[in-house]
Amino acid sequence: MGQLEGRVAVVTGGARGIGLAIAERLSRDGARVALWDADVGVARSAAAASGAHAEAADVTDAASLQAALARTEAVLGPVDIMVANAGITGPNHRLEDYPVDDWRRVIEVDLVGVYLTCRCVVPGMRARNRGRIVNIASIAGKEGNPMASAYSAAKAGVIGLTKSLGKELAGTEVRVNCITPAAVETELFQQMTAEQVAWMKSKIPLGRFGLTSEVAEMAAFLASDAVSFSTGAIFDCSGGRAVY
Ligand SMILES: NC(=O)c1ccc[n+]([C@@H]2O[C@H](COP(=O)([O-])OP(=O)(O)OC[C@H]3O[C@@H](n4cnc5c(N)ncnc54)[C@H](O)[C@@H]3O)[C@@H](O)[C@H]2O)c1
Repeated sequence: MGQLEGRVAVVTGGARGIGLAIAERLSRDGARVALWDADVGVARSAAAASGAHAEAADVTDAASLQAALARTEAVLGPVDIMVANAGITGPNHRLEDYPVDDWRRVIEVDLVGVYLTCRCVVPGMRARNRGRIVNIASIAGKEGNPMASAYSAAKAGVIGLTKSLGKELAGTEVRVNCITPAAVETELFQQMTAEQVAWMKSKIPLGRFGLTSEVAEMAAFLASDAVSFSTGAIFDCSGGRAVY
């Protein structure tokens, strides 16, 4: 039996990239998995290929998340594991040149989206006194990537939110942790300039991009019962880039 046998897991932004790799990894551990994504067509194809369930969900819209939760729980049962992974990088500009609407959109998806996602599942987890939340932030939130002020600020916000929520839920059996990957080659790279991507690689001491499977491995650990004494914690997955 897999370590997540009988558990229900949701991965936001699960249609592709890191989210899909996490979903497939949780599935291999025995969890029943739902992919929530704004791009529901791709999510449905991915779900069909991996035996998961797919739901349309926009993480910036609380009503959309509540509807996805109701549909998921009707099909799979109560959600035990939430991986808040959906995100965008937005364009790369110097701070003073960054279009304000783009800046706000990145904060809306990457930070408010994680808040709304957690907000949607915490009441049920608290009531059942059981749960694992894994938020996907970024090394950019620890170090600040130049030309990516919105992304860096949003991801730093996710780190703070994780620390806060971990402590709020510390009297329960719900654990809340966060992963801060360095660059992992996915379709997300298409949103960035080639210079930005090359700069990110040059900062990684291991000299290569991370693999989606490497982030998935850490997420599976954080979603499991093996994580009992860590909460509100930030787990590095940066090929040696992070110094704390
Ligand atoms: N790829 C990297 O280098 C890297 C590094 C560090 C952190 N991350 C983080 O990992 C997460 C996944 O990144 P990825 O590289 O797999 O990206 P990706 O672009 O391959 O996939 C992101 C998914 O999120 C979905 N999404 C976007 N906006 C959404 C919304 N409003 N509501 C619901 N779904 C939405 C997209 O449709 C897509 O399926 C992101 O939070 C990203 O910031 C990525």
